[in-house]
Amino acid sequence: MKFNREWLEAWLQNPTTIRPGGVMYAKAIKASADKTADTIDTGKLTPHVKLGKADSAAAADALMKLGADLNLVQKGAFKNGSPGPMAKMLFSKLRGCSSCHSAKGGDGGRSGPELGDAGSRLQPDFMVAYINNPQKFDPHIWMPTLGLTDADVQKLTGYLLTLKHTEAQ
Ligand code: HEC
Repeated sequence: MKFNREWLEAWLQNPTTIRPGGVMYAKAIKASADKTADTIDTGKLTPHVKLGKADSAAAADALMKLGADLNLVQKGAFKNGSPGPMAKMLFSKLRGCSSCHSAKGGDGGRSGPELGDAGSRLQPDFMVAYINNPQKFDPHIWMPTLGLTDADVQKLTGYLLTLKHTEAQ
């Protein structure tokens, strides 16, 4: 229920990093020698399987059907307004998102998924639901439910939608 179909099919054929430290990031991340940033032992990560064209289309079709019956994502939750001038700052400073996420290579935390291509990868209504309450999706998830206002969630989603990879990685 979270991905854009087109992105998913292409990614399955050419998987790139989403979770810099893998799913169990604590196993692959350690502090750098000067303790100013996290570093990743890439030797501890397993590369994602690569699929051919026909298989990736079939897998994307099957994956896109999952989760719809859980009603976790409300259609039209993203109001499509302009993110406004403060949105980037909400992400990088005021709401602490960048302590766990990077918006572009190397500029944020490593424990959460990279969001530098969130605009191509994730559906806006999913982002609204997830940022509002990640625990609703999985009570054990590390991302905290931050009690944000709807205005903040809309701005953050609007900002994430502007992040798209412009060149092949
Ligand atoms: C304490 C660390 C932490 C903070 C702070 C945090 N996140 Fe997350 N976030 C995570 C983790 C970890 C996940 C992945 C959870 C999973 O699926 O295992 C995640 C997932 C997400 C996802 C879904 C990404 C995907 O690929 O499915 C979005 C969108 C997101 N976060 C946005 C935000 C925003 C916006 C903020 C700030 C308001 C924020 N996060 C703050 C750790 C964090």
